Amino acid sequence: MYAEGAPRMDPEIFAQGIPTLGICYGAQLLALELGGRVEQTGAGEYGKVSMRATGEGLFASLPDEQTAWMSHRDTVVAPPDGARIVAESEHTPVAAFEDDARRLYGVQFHPEVVHTPHGQAVLKNFLYELAGAEPAWTPAAVIEEQVERIRSQVGDERVLCALSGGVDSAVAALLVHKAVGDQLTCVFVDHGLLRKGEAEQVVETFDGVFHVPLVHVQAQERFLSKLAGVTEPEDKRKIIGGEFIRVFEDEARKLGDVRWLVQGTLYSDVIESGGTDGVAETIKSHHNVGGLPADMKMKLVEPLRLLFKDEVRRVGEELGMPERMVWRQPFPGPGLAIRIIGDVTEERLETLREADAILQEEVRKAGLYRELWQSFCVLPAIRSVGVQGDSRTYGYPIAIRAVTSEDAMTADWARLPYDLIEVIASRIVNEIPAVNRVVLDVTSKPPATIEWE
Ligand code: XMP
Repeated sequence: MYAEGAPRMDPEIFAQGIPTLGICYGAQLLALELGGRVEQTGAGEYGKVSMRATGEGLFASLPDEQTAWMSHRDTVVAPPDGARIVAESEHTPVAAFEDDARRLYGVQFHPEVVHTPHGQAVLKNFLYELAGAEPAWTPAAVIEEQVERIRSQVGDERVLCALSGGVDSAVAALLVHKAVGDQLTCVFVDHGLLRKGEAEQVVETFDGVFHVPLVHVQAQERFLSKLAGVTEPEDKRKIIGGEFIRVFEDEARKLGDVRWLVQGTLYSDVIESGGTDGVAETIKSHHNVGGLPADMKMKLVEPLRLLFKDEVRRVGEELGMPERMVWRQPFPGPGLAIRIIGDVTEERLETLREADAILQEEVRKAGLYRELWQSFCVLPAIRSVGVQGDSRTYGYPIAIRAVTSEDAMTADWARLPYDLIEVIASRIVNEIPAVNRVVLDVTSKPPATIEWE
């Protein structure tokens, strides 16, 4: 608060009667601008803190004793004039305050993180009870609104969309198709590095069910030949990304004059890029399929710009997209190529694809698929000795990787039930002749990453 250049607000904003919730620095700002006191007490709080709340207002129907996540050094020691203290912790005498008359509220802790177990309830209390907002979000309303927007945006011009097999590009494409029908053409570049059955599902869904004009580019051989002998993970990524762009450009050129490109930008991407401006002009460089050509000079249609991932899924369900596509776990653009350590060959792809299909099937059967951030198999570049029947084998091991995570920045290895691991392992060695050993990756991120390459 007292650092040079620390952001301040015009206190007039707080006099407008607009319900306002200040979080962390926001609470300190409210206090400082409105007659409270913020001090450097010397005792900051970082991490989980026990807090006592009064059970009213923001904390209505919530327990008096709660855990909250804090991350601050300065502390509000006196709330704004006329506000009352509604929560405190050991080092923070004003962990939350309320001024009902002016409709101003402040919390020092972070209600938006999972480490504050009642945080979502606090936000709901603020929105629904104190601010009087209606929980009016429905996927149907989003669809209606976006269809209108897309129509007025693109008029009668043609639109192009690259499908990756993931939920974002699929939902974006279906929304655009709903809006402008056959003005949309989808291009699905099949690089041969998807999981078993996934390419077929994309074609079946878009072509068979929704009748979206679809160009299915069978580029498997093209990608495999480029990858032959390449073992460096970053080289694989560059080759796949570069090749994707070339194939996509070739197809786009064949389609003639297309002005618009659909992009599955989510609200989290907008936030990551530092705000609501500037994103539309640049094509997302970390796009799932390795980035689209920067010089394509196409205007962007971004129907998911205001949505979070869970909302995209709800829109996908509402549009009638198959459950598997809607709930697909995140999958890297370079696909199975970065789950095969070393050389990517047709034979090794086939082995990994079969093992991975067994893992997916069993994880789904156990009802754990949606609980896991990602679950997959990895094929290391070694062989080991085994004995199967009467003979000694020298086969591939398969590693099982399953993690829980909120955002892939950190991850923990999933404690899969032993019985499930046993079923997966024995099916893999029994059904895939090239494999004679299954191991389990029990490392979190950090220090490991989620992928092996
Ligand atoms: P790591 O392995 O860095 O992965 O812990 C974090 C998340 O990113 C995904 N990932 C990628 N996604 N292209 C992508 O589109 C990539 O090259 C790539 N590498 C990793 C990974 O699956 C995990 O969800």
